[in-house]
This record gives sequence, structure tokens and C-alpha cells, in this order.
Amino acid sequence: MTSPVPGPAPLLRVEGLGVRYGALVALDDVSWEVHAGEILGIIGPNGAGKSSCYDATTHMATRTGRVWLGSRDVTAEPPFGLAALGLKRAFQQNAFFATLTVLDNMVAVLAREAGTGLLPSLLLPWREAAQRRALEHEAANLLERFGVPRAMHALRPGNIPYGSQRMLSIALAFGRGARVLMLDEPAAGLGGVDMARLAELLRGLRAEGVAIVVIEHHMDLIMSVADRIVVLEQGRCLATGTPQQIQKDPRVLEAYLGQAA
Ligand SMILES: Nc1ncnc2c1ncn2[C@@H]1O[C@H](COP(=O)(O)OP(=O)(O)OP(=O)(O)O)[C@@H](O)[C@H]1O
Ligand SMILES: [Mg+2]
Repeated sequence: MTSPVPGPAPLLRVEGLGVRYGALVALDDVSWEVHAGEILGIIGPNGAGKSSCYDATTHMATRTGRVWLGSRDVTAEPPFGLAALGLKRAFQQNAFFATLTVLDNMVAVLAREAGTGLLPSLLLPWREAAQRRALEHEAANLLERFGVPRAMHALRPGNIPYGSQRMLSIALAFGRGARVLMLDEPAAGLGGVDMARLAELLRGLRAEGVAIVVIEHHMDLIMSVADRIVVLEQGRCLATGTPQQIQKDPRVLEAYLGQAA
């Protein structure tokens, strides 16, 4: 827990996380932290435990260890409670309402977060229409900001390019805002242009003070956007450091990067 550079307190801190699936130890005593306005990368070979680490952090798996959001111990908080506190997560697999349009998927998230009540809508239909228009406007702007162009808003999510589906996933996770945003392989299936756009988006969110955690296999992307990187291997934390340190770490080169170098 000693850091050479005394800085502000981390926004999200996980300590000693462990996950087991039967006899398999997917995650073993993993600790890291991320600050407001920082991008933390998590890398490691397939099956290293990266997604399990997210499951553990967001309380979507039975796990050991502790989680703090700001100064608050949120270890016992359920996933929806964490989201309400500003800890938002996108998944490795896209998950949408398949029969709703792209825009309505976004509206649904915004409406849920806004706590749009049913009762006023029933009593005051004109208010519902105005509210709906306002949400659609907000949703369309958000989607554009997250790289889903207007031409796609009326389509079903399954009918837009896979790269745009990944961007949609991020927008849906972010919703009306996040203090911490956890992304699981956001660049999977993205082409060069979309990848640059994603990097730009992440830098923009960081500049606004969002703490971002990104699991990613695309080394160019992670090395260019991350402030610090955690390397997982076989459920354990192999190394933590800046991209420069990680790229030079012999253990990392041997275990992981060496294959690609
Ligand atoms: N629900 C589950 N039940 C049983 N085993 C699981 C489950 N989820 C993950 N595992 C196993 O736990 C280990 C870690 O998996 P995890 O999905 O966390 O890895 P990962 O680093 O995200 O891999 P990838 O890069 O392929 O997404 C793997 O051996 C995986 O097979
Ligand atoms: Mg994974």
C-alpha cells in the first residue's frame, strides 16, 4: 500500500480479491486502485482472470476481498447499488434489448436512471410526451458522443456494425454519468478509425475526472491511453506499472507480451 508519490485518495480500491469456480482458482489475492481522472489498464492472456476481476469488483461473483468506492467500504453492496453510487460496467459480451432500436436502448437506460415515474405519466400524458422527447434528445446526443452516429439510431442493435455495437455498450454502461467506468475489451472488433475514436473518447472522459478501468488485448491502444497497467496471469497480479515499465518488465515479456513482440 505504499506509493512513492503521495497523491489524492483512490476513487476505487480493491484489495485481496479472490474468485473460485469449484476447484478452479480464477482470481487469487488481486489488489489495485484507480484515481479520478486516471485510466488503469488490465491486461493478461486469455483466461488470466480479467473478467472475473470485474465480476469480483462489481459483486457479480461470489468472492473474497474488499472493495472501496471513495472512502466508503462497498464490499457488501449489490451490483445495482454500486451502479447507483457511480460504479458502472460494460461487459465483454454485448447485451441489448434486441427488439428495441438503438435509440430506445439508450432511452431505456436514461429513463431508469432518471427514475421516470409511471404515475405522473398516466395522469399527465402531455408531460410524458415532453419527458420522452427530452430523453430522446439526451439519448441521441450521448450516442453521438460515444461514436454511434445518428444514421444508426433507428436501427436494431443487431443490425449495426459490431464496432458500433461495442460503442453502444459503452454508452449504455455510462448512462447519465459514472464516477468509475469499467470496460471489458471495448476495442474488440473495432477498425482503425473506431479505435482512434475510442481512444479519444477515453481521454475525454479521463479529462472530465472519470476513473476508467479498461481490460484490453489491443496493446497499441492500452499502451497509448493507460496511465498505469495491471498484468494478470493465472489469476494473480504479475506486475503493476506505467506502460513503459510494463513493456520492459521481463516477467511480463515472458508471460505475455513476448508472444506478440
Ligand atoms: N462462470 C464460470 N464458471 C466456471 N469457470 C469460469 C467461469 N467464468 C470464468 N471461468 C474460468 O475462470 C478463468 C478466468 O476466466 P476469465 O473469464 O476471468 O478470464 P479473462 O482473463 O477474462 O479471459 P479472456 O481474455 O478470454 O476474456 C478461466 O479459466 C475461465 O475458464
Ligand atoms: Mg474476459
